[in-house]
Amino acid sequence: MNKVILCEHPLLQDALALMRDRNTPPARFREAMESAGVVLGLEALKDVKTLSEQVHTPLKPASVRRMAQPLVLVSILRAGLGLLPGLQRLCPAARIGHIGLYRDEKTLNPVRYYVRLPKELPESVVLLLDPMLATGGSASEAVRILKTDGAKDIRLITLLSSKTGLRRVHEEHPDVRIHTAAVDSTLNKHGYIVPGLGDAGDRLYTL
Ligand code: PRP
Ligand code: URA
Repeated sequence: MNKVILCEHPLLQDALALMRDRNTPPARFREAMESAGVVLGLEALKDVKTLSEQVHTPLKPASVRRMAQPLVLVSILRAGLGLLPGLQRLCPAARIGHIGLYRDEKTLNPVRYYVRLPKELPESVVLLLDPMLATGGSASEAVRILKTDGAKDIRLITLLSSKTGLRRVHEEHPDVRIHTAAVDSTLNKHGYIVPGLGDAGDRLYTL
């Protein structure tokens, strides 16, 4: 799976440690998720093409490099919203999209309930945000939705992955690069990543 990139940055691993800890309260959990978004975003964007330009500093003209492509951030609701603030701080000009999916409790298949995407998808670098990659069904479906709308350069940012989820997304979308902070080996019978961090949406918003 040559498109899976494990990010071992100490700041990211520290944030993940906090998020795994069941004693971490929601406010700290949200902060840690925001920091994780920054580190994963920096990693995912480090090879974006740049264009040379000139600007005038107060003293002289200077050669500079600017991002050659627009950037779109798409969060998978709900938990993807936790990664969004950090990435928005990093790239304030990015356009934002949302894909609402929830997992059917019995089948674990993703159910679509909301899609709103910016029209710039085809020419943009698209970062798809979801902290949890469990069976891989939600991420894979979200990538399908993005491709149907014309996205070509899609990079998935996820905090915690299962081996099953990585394999599924990689097989269904071999062109999509996946950035993750950790890979856990097990999924339980309810489709939860073990040891994981629990239900990310609940820990962000309702506990
Ligand atoms: C969670 C999580 C992912 C999905 C991962 O969302 O945020 O989107 O599960 O599981 P999968 O890889 O097996 O598809 P959930 O369906 O719980 O919805 P929520 O974020 O609204 O709580
Ligand atoms: N969604 C979560 O929030 N956690 C898991 O472990 C799996 C899916």
